[in-house]
Amino acid sequence: MQTKILMVCLGNICRSPLAEGILQSKLPKQNFIVDSAGTGGWHAGELPDERSIATAQEHGVDITYQRARKFRTDDFETFDYIYTMDMSNYKDVLSLAPDEDAKQKVKLILNELFPEENVEVPDPYYGGLNGFENVYRMLDEACSIIAKNLQK
Ligand code: 4NP
Repeated sequence: MQTKILMVCLGNICRSPLAEGILQSKLPKQNFIVDSAGTGGWHAGELPDERSIATAQEHGVDITYQRARKFRTDDFETFDYIYTMDMSNYKDVLSLAPDEDAKQKVKLILNELFPEENVEVPDPYYGGLNGFENVYRMLDEACSIIAKNLQK
């Protein structure tokens, strides 16, 4: 059986597409499914932001197969782990959880790196390319830990 992991941010065009691509690159495809979604639906159907695509490409990760979509309540049934990028996404997703089992699946992604510190992945949308590289590095470290723990 495959383990399913969902990455969630606000628009699903900047941070969670990077998180999806990075984690997928660290896990064997036959055992894991990695997807991403946004709590907002404004960018549904779009490619990731060109700055996320470029930053991932520089690190040898292709995210151009991805298309944005909105988070849905049935994602709680589909996925085993739901990683959110910031406290706002965390609270928004948690507020949609139908039961305690669903709530337990929702985590703040950088708590994997800095346990219980509630550090957020900053939204790079309104900044320059440098912000995307910064986000990439944070997510790369967090995803290394997640990938290691999932394969124990
Ligand atoms: P993301 O960044 O949540 O990392 O995908 C954003 C992208 C677009 C918007 C907000 C955040 N927006 O408001 O359009």
